[in-house]
Parts: sequence; C-alpha cells; structure tokens
Amino acid sequence: MPPSPEAESGPSRVAVWQMFDRIAHRYDLLNRLLSMGRDVAWRKMLVKRLPAVDNPRVLDLATGTADVLFAMERALPTLEQGVGLDMSAGMLSFGRQKVLARGLERRLSLVRADATRIPFEDNSFDAVSISFGIRNVLDMDEGLREMCRVLRPGGRALILEFSLPANRPFRALYLFYFRHILPRIGGLISGDSYAYRYLNETVESFPYGSAFTGRMAQAGFGSTSATPLTLGIATLYTGDKPE
Ligand SMILES: C[S@@+](CC[C@H](N)C(=O)[O-])C[C@H]1O[C@@H](n2cnc3c(N)ncnc32)[C@H](O)[C@@H]1O
Repeated sequence: MPPSPEAESGPSRVAVWQMFDRIAHRYDLLNRLLSMGRDVAWRKMLVKRLPAVDNPRVLDLATGTADVLFAMERALPTLEQGVGLDMSAGMLSFGRQKVLARGLERRLSLVRADATRIPFEDNSFDAVSISFGIRNVLDMDEGLREMCRVLRPGGRALILEFSLPANRPFRALYLFYFRHILPRIGGLISGDSYAYRYLNETVESFPYGSAFTGRMAQAGFGSTSATPLTLGIATLYTGDKPE
C-alpha cells in the first residue's frame, strides 16, 4: 500500500485529480483493457441520447483525455462547439494532443476547471455530460446543480457511471474481478496501485439506479432515467432541465 493520506481519511479534492495526473500516460490504454473495450460502446450509447438540436453546444465535465467529445464530434457533424473541462492538467494535455492530431481545435476546446465551479454562464449549453467522473467529484450534489445551471431550459444532462450488476452470480464474479484482478493489472501498467484500488472502493460505495436519479431530481432535473449497460456494470443516466 503506497503511503497516501487519502487511504486513511478519504481522498481530498486535490488528491483525486492529482491521482489522474499520475496515471494520465496510461489512462486510455487501461480504459480499453480493463473494460474489455466496453468503454467505447458505453460512450456511443451516451452520444445516442443527446438531444436532437441543430448546431448543438455541449460541455463534457471531467473530460479526461476527451474521448466523449470525440465520440460526440463523430456522431454530430453539426456540432457547433464542444468544451471539455477537467482539473487534471496531465489528462488535459493528452486530450489536447488528440484534438490537435485530429485537426479539431476550432470546434473542440479544453479548459482546466473544477466541475463544482463551472466557469460558464447560466443556460449556456444544449447538453452537459460527465462520463466516469461524477463519482470523483467530492461534492456530487454541487456538481449536479452546476450541470443544471449551465444547461439551457430543455437541455439534457448525460451521466455515465459504474454501478453494480443486479444478477447475483454475475455480481459475485464481477466483484472478484473488480476487487482482485483489476487493481493488480491497473497498478502494474500505470505504476500507481492506489489509483485502481480507489476505483473499486469508490464504485462499491457510490449511489446508483434510483438512488442516483433521486439526487439528480434534488439538483433540479426532470424526466430522469437510468439505463443499466452491460448487465449493470455501468449505468447511463439522463435528466432534462425543466423548460
Ligand atoms: C475516470 S476519469 C474519466 C475521464 C473521461 N470522462 C472518460 O470517460 O474516460 C475521471 C476524471 O475526473 C477528473 N476530475 C476529478 N475531480 C474533478 C473535479 N472536481 N472537476 C473536474 N474534473 C475532475 C479527473 O481529473 C479525471 O480526468
């Protein structure tokens, strides 16, 4: 166990994103490997639920290396502006390299900021997403309220997050993988064993399903939905800002 204050007292706000700085160089590879490629399919599902509007403006919180923005850009030829926001300069730097390599710098931009203090005005975006990020935002309720604030009335929040499978035998198998195999592979490849233990500890204690849509409703969203993906390993949540 690495000497880490967060292991005893829970991760501090700084420690969470600093952890992503440390694993940024291996993040994309580990995402593909540890999810067995499912992360790509999950992002495609998220993109399919974007609201149908002309020339949409979208904001992707906790964007990391910006894969959600690329999925949106591929699916929406009329995308007017995509903004990715993250606290980790390391993750954003890999994201920026990918934006430049694809020649998308005029439509996609990345900013370093906290998801609980979004530096945009009220009612600015048609859709706001956060993929495998809301669990890392320590004040989740404030993060959800901020998402609602920057959405235009009628705009949609799209949230992808890990959850636990309902089927008991599958859940037992999955938890074995999640607790014992994933942290070892993640630790070996990223060089940071804490980061991948943190993943399974936070997932197991995070609200999901109706517990999470309840928190979305409290933050101001209407018409919330929760769609389990891959037997419930992940869930796609949506909620609309009332008109
Ligand atoms: C698991 S990664 C998800 C990256 C990307 N969305 C994806 O689907 O691959 C979580 C990201 O949340 C970011 N993060 C953590 N706390 C944050 C905060 N308070 N505000 C903004 N980003 C945050 C981390 O820096 C990290 O890049």
